[in-house]
Amino acid sequence: MSQAEKPNIVFFDTTLRDGEQSPGVTLSVQEKLDIARQLSRMGINVLEAGFPVASEGDFRAVQAIAKNIGPLTEGRKEGVPMTICGLARAVNSDIKRCFDAIEPAPRKRIHTFLATSDIHLKYKLKISREQCIERAVAAVKYARSLCEDVEFSPEDAGRSEKEFLCTVLAAVIEAGATTLNIPDTVGYNTPEEYAAIMKHLIQNTPGSDKVIWSTHCHNDLGLATANTLAGVVAGARQVEVTINGIGERAGNTAFEEVCMALYTHPTLFPVGIKHIDPSQIYRVSKMVSNLTGMSVQSNKAIVGANAFAHESGIHQDGVLKHQETYEIIRPEVVGVPSNSLVLGKHSGRNALRTHLEKLGVSHLTEEEFQSVFERFKKIADSKRQVMDEDLMALLDDQTSQSGLEHFRLVNVQVFTTCGTSATATVRIQTLASADPPTYETHEDAATAPGAVDAIFSALHRQITLEHHMVGYDVHGVTGGSDALGAVTVKLVNSKDGTPNPKSPTIPSQPNGFIERTLQGARIFKGQATDPDVLLAGAKAYINALNRIALDKAMNISSELDKSGP
Ligand code: KIV
Ligand code: ZN
Repeated sequence: MSQAEKPNIVFFDTTLRDGEQSPGVTLSVQEKLDIARQLSRMGINVLEAGFPVASEGDFRAVQAIAKNIGPLTEGRKEGVPMTICGLARAVNSDIKRCFDAIEPAPRKRIHTFLATSDIHLKYKLKISREQCIERAVAAVKYARSLCEDVEFSPEDAGRSEKEFLCTVLAAVIEAGATTLNIPDTVGYNTPEEYAAIMKHLIQNTPGSDKVIWSTHCHNDLGLATANTLAGVVAGARQVEVTINGIGERAGNTAFEEVCMALYTHPTLFPVGIKHIDPSQIYRVSKMVSNLTGMSVQSNKAIVGANAFAHESGIHQDGVLKHQETYEIIRPEVVGVPSNSLVLGKHSGRNALRTHLEKLGVSHLTEEEFQSVFERFKKIADSKRQVMDEDLMALLDDQTSQSGLEHFRLVNVQVFTTCGTSATATVRIQTLASADPPTYETHEDAATAPGAVDAIFSALHRQITLEHHMVGYDVHGVTGGSDALGAVTVKLVNSKDGTPNPKSPTIPSQPNGFIERTLQGARIFKGQATDPDVLLAGAKAYINALNRIALDKAMNISSELDKSGP
């Protein structure tokens, strides 16, 4: 088959559903909209936007994505919008709720699933194989009565008996399923094994030519990408992926890895990626790691900080002589910034706009651009060299702050007495009334052993919202003493979990541990960057508080919706 004749692989992105099931991750509706917009721009075909029956918040997010992102074609090479998909158990009430959420999208899909492995049937569902077939068929028929595009997943297919799988899948094809997804739910399979399952099912399921076969691989053995590619060679034409490979436990197949494997080996695979814009990869990876608070390990393929770094002298010498000696992908192909000096305090609007376009950011409104420009100027004043990484951090900062303004930071002053104590005075504004927005100014001071602790304590004294801190993370965006400091603060609403009696403090344990001890409690993240790391911390704290306040306001309004006429 010539390159031109190859079908494009269908990328089904589940960052906002399976990805959001990562421990400790919760995204606001606005954050989900921002990620969805970026995925659309990159060319993703199907977006699994959430699990609408799971919560009111999930329903609203899926509906908002269906309505606002569903129709978009901007940046999409094929000119057609993404299909917006929702997940539903094989239960009519779930399926109906799912359809109501995706309804506004021009292209929509219901994804329904039911376990098929003996271990799940016996211990989890407590049903027989016959009952399993009946339920699967009924669910698919009902979904098809609502929507033309229906995907069915036999959960734990990787450990299900192949002949039984063929029987279930033949029955759901008959019932109207249009895509069959084969999940290795627990990340158990090896590439050979997964390919053999896929091949067997395609060859032995009656009606298999009427549907698209799909992969869904978890990464418990670190084999998710290898299994996915093996599945493609065996006949799958859709791959289910997440950005940065986030997801349940060890995560899912990483989009960027599959995409770049197909890009790097165009003749090895029976599918193409002509519909994808790989230059958006780095940007979307950064956005997802910032908004989820899940940092990317530095040696992660394609998007890790070291993915294009050459440390040894021999390698550096080789790359300088000829890039391809040690680089199989040019960093700019995936939109990785060059790390060169880009702009300074004399750079104007045009230079900034042109540079952002080079980084794949061409979609800002005039208002958004103006705000980025003003922040860029402030940074350029205090920092000699503004790097691409700084610009990216600044953009992510802007995204993570959009629309959240119950609290505003006005001023921070800190006095430290060498190693013994620090006193911080913090002035803030709090929203007094929403329409029109009016603010009250407050100021308080606190003393603590360290400056960050003093700032957070001074802030805490002024906020009536009950909350406590479960995570604090700080890193330099670029190297050097003038690097922008990027801070993430994680707060929980005290009503949701056990309050920390010494709140607020900087936890000494790794953030992930604390999140796990508070299972069930929702964690609200705030991020901010600033040349002054103390100020970045105060801003991040305020951003996290704004998320709690917004969540509270939304719950109140949803209660009002329910009691309305
Ligand atoms: O891993 C899994 O089995 C899933 C299904 C819901 C497709 O995520
Ligand atoms: Zn999964």
